Amino acid sequence: MNEQLQRCFSSAQLNGLQLKNRLIKAGTFEGMTPEGKISPRLQQFHERIAQGGIAMTTIGYCAVENDGRLNENMMYMHEGIRRPLAAMIESLHSLGTKVSGQMGHGGGFSKNRHLERKRPLGPSFGINMLGVTQGMLFCDAMSHSDIKALIKTYQRSAVFMKSVGFDCLEIHFGHGYGLCQFMSPKTNRRKDEYGGSLNNRMRLPLQILEGVRHSVGEHFPIIGKISLTEGVKGGLDYDDAIEIAKLLEKGGIDGIITSGGTSTMNPMIMFRGGNILQPMLKAEKSALMRLMLHLAGPKLFKDYPYEELYFLEQAKRIRDAVDCNLIYVGGASSNASFETLMQHGFDFIQLGRTLLSDPDLPLQAQRQQTYTSRCNHCNECVATIEHPAGIHCTRFSPEAPTILQ
Ligand SMILES: Cc1cc2nc3c(=O)[nH]c(=O)nc-3n(C[C@H](O)[C@H](O)[C@H](O)COP(=O)(O)O)c2cc1C
Ligand code: SF4
Repeated sequence: MNEQLQRCFSSAQLNGLQLKNRLIKAGTFEGMTPEGKISPRLQQFHERIAQGGIAMTTIGYCAVENDGRLNENMMYMHEGIRRPLAAMIESLHSLGTKVSGQMGHGGGFSKNRHLERKRPLGPSFGINMLGVTQGMLFCDAMSHSDIKALIKTYQRSAVFMKSVGFDCLEIHFGHGYGLCQFMSPKTNRRKDEYGGSLNNRMRLPLQILEGVRHSVGEHFPIIGKISLTEGVKGGLDYDDAIEIAKLLEKGGIDGIITSGGTSTMNPMIMFRGGNILQPMLKAEKSALMRLMLHLAGPKLFKDYPYEELYFLEQAKRIRDAVDCNLIYVGGASSNASFETLMQHGFDFIQLGRTLLSDPDLPLQAQRQQTYTSRCNHCNECVATIEHPAGIHCTRFSPEAPTILQ
């Protein structure tokens, strides 16, 4: 194995957290928390990934409050789930894997029918795209006291998540969710100190980072996922991402994950490969939602052919701009790609789809210099998010592993 791959498969530190290699499971909302409750399947899913040799797994989309859930089948961080959450994390630790929790908030994008507030809250009043089929047509603008409360909510969640055993927190700053809505000139039309210039739009995300840091202490790893581009006219773009990364670094973040796209406006930039419109139409049970998909789908789900390391060139610009840990995500599915990423100075690599198709990827890639994942980027797994069994690869079974030698 060459020097770069040796680096990839050797242990590394993330703000004092010892990771056995540089591969991290990307947050992929598992759809295994019916009515917000942790199912045994969620634990089994992550145990299977842990058995494959990943250094750290990420529990996808841990909403920081009830109203931060995109739907009522997501869990949110509260005492009611302490016991099963702690047991799951303990079990993953016993398999030698660290555990990160992705702190999420949907902002003004939600179809959660159990909201405590009248409407979902975002930076500005507008259409709640996700809620339309549930009759939840609009989202409201957050007041200053809502903003203060949200910072406290993130802090409360961070304290809970640290106490329950998470080794790392990943704040979601991307993909069009709550904090991204504040960062984006497309969705933030505020006239106060939280809107306007990029510095103003970054005010709340940075206050949240500061609050979370204060809550967990200097020596606890905090990483953040950003969108390099939102992929829509008038939205955040590649040049903004450089400034955003610099601000997050100045704000004390330990690592930045360079993703892209928005679930709300242009999701295919995030994935590349097979268009998810047809699989989603097939999976959708609501006739109204199917109609919406037929009408809005072609504009929302644009074609972006898959290419290996599709964010590399733009992520390299972030590498040049900041010194903090940089965590690459997006189409890293072979040892050749891991080698390239190590060569370009990335510190860690997050893997999404390849671990759904090949949970044993880390172990297998260590054994086989020419390793390439069998994932073909058809993206059918994306349409399984609301499947009763939760997300899964539709092509390959994790029970039929690729490790043969
Ligand atoms: C089924 C599925 C669910 C996902 N859910 C999330 C999520 O909850 N949060 C998130 O930040 N990204 C989510 N993603 C995006 C991945 O984290 C990752 O950014 C994307 O799949 C590209 O990486 P890959 O090429 O290694 O798959 C999801 C991806 C898939 C396939
Ligand atoms: S369904 Fe399987 S093969 Fe297709 S993109 Fe998802 S993980 Fe890869």
